[in-house]
Amino acid sequence: MKRYFIHTFGCQMNVYDSLRMGELLSPLGYRPTPLPEEADLIVLNTCSIREKAEDKLLSALGRYRLLKQARGTRIGIGGCVAQQEKEKLLKKAPFVDFVFGTDAVGKLPDILKELEQTGGRLVETAWEEEAFLKGEGETSRGKASEFVTIMKGCDNFCAYCVVPHTRGREASRPHEEVLEQAQTLLSVGVRELTLLGQNVNSYAGGISFAKLLLRVAQLPGLARLRFTTSHPRDLSPELIDAFRAEPKIAPHIHLPLQSGSDAVLERMRRGYRAEEYMQRLSQLRAARPDIAVTTDVIVGFPGETEADFEKTLELTARAQFDGQFSFMFSARPKTLAALKEDAWGKLSQKVKAQRLERLQRLQKQISAQLFQTQVGQVAEVLVEGKSKQNPGRLHGKTPHNRTVNFEGEARVGELIEVRIERASSSALYGQRLSQGM
Ligand code: SAH
Ligand code: SF4
Ligand code: F3S
Repeated sequence: MKRYFIHTFGCQMNVYDSLRMGELLSPLGYRPTPLPEEADLIVLNTCSIREKAEDKLLSALGRYRLLKQARGTRIGIGGCVAQQEKEKLLKKAPFVDFVFGTDAVGKLPDILKELEQTGGRLVETAWEEEAFLKGEGETSRGKASEFVTIMKGCDNFCAYCVVPHTRGREASRPHEEVLEQAQTLLSVGVRELTLLGQNVNSYAGGISFAKLLLRVAQLPGLARLRFTTSHPRDLSPELIDAFRAEPKIAPHIHLPLQSGSDAVLERMRRGYRAEEYMQRLSQLRAARPDIAVTTDVIVGFPGETEADFEKTLELTARAQFDGQFSFMFSARPKTLAALKEDAWGKLSQKVKAQRLERLQRLQKQISAQLFQTQVGQVAEVLVEGKSKQNPGRLHGKTPHNRTVNFEGEARVGELIEVRIERASSSALYGQRLSQGM
């Protein structure tokens, strides 16, 4: 029996692809191992969204190189860095056996067969029109929550972003297939589904995205329906209505703002102004008053002035986000912002770091205050498993996507009630109520 180890970096797209890789390796006689030292095959599923992400790959490769020398472990690089660098990676890392791009996940078995026959090295980074991989559901048995890919690629070309380069053109998966996969996952006991795409609002798989949500929401066994990511520019009135009409659509939306300054948003090519973003938020809150909103922000985008940055602070205070993922701008290969960085005005690392710190401090206060209002309330929690920091505790999520750590017995996938006793800026803590739901 052969063993494989997959090291996954980056976003849910990669998490999803790594699961599919596992499913493809299983009929070839491979079993997963949590220990890279034991593996016959190591796959690095990589991310290149920021320079830091690429650095992580390099340090991991350094470790795996030793295994290659010691045991001849076969090493492959997939994901976004693979797609971006292609054969250059074979030169940079002479101990790597194969490089396969984001559309080549399904070719993994063929790649391995070929390597066994030829013993050489290879690169497979062609784009595929139809590269949606269907999961069999088996790796999802026993999980509370799963993803269903509904589209791939991105055509937005935001000025800072590598994704259109690493994931290719936007393509939607036919809605019949999405529904079929959703059904498969629900049939093995999954309770919560997240429909996945870089820009789900431009879904074009035969019905609108809002209709797709309403159709999936009808499937038996489903407790909660989520989706990510939504582009503020394309958030349709129909989608807002779906929040009003369908209680199974969970009261949470991740709506990346990126900046509170119109000048910066324009250079970013985001296609909306800050006030339009705020308007969409009000509409969403009118449709679903308790909706929790999370967002992404980039600080230190080329040319961002102190006044621009203060607009981001102001908007952050006004929007009352549940949470915010904030990043320092990182110049990425082939992107417009990297090309224009000097012309627009490159910011020093120091200024970027200070702005990030200020923004994160503000958001932490806001999150802490919002989470504090939950203390004393009873929350419905979908149980996901044992808490990592404290194995005596379990954890799960509220409908608003807030993490809850709690004491008491429960099964994974169970919906239970938890009385919230305390809160931090990123999680809630409590006790399971004795009677189930
Ligand atoms: N498809 C999603 C974003 C995916 S990338 C969307 O359109 O919202 C996740 C986040 O990484 C982005 O929202 C952005 O905030 C951040 N990001 C992307 N490129 C970046 C870069 N070059 N530097 C810093 N942050 C970046
Ligand atoms: Fe990147 Fe913009 Fe596409 Fe999101 S919408 S993946 S930020 S190009
Ligand atoms: Fe990273 Fe690629 Fe996702 S760049 S964030 S793994 S789409």
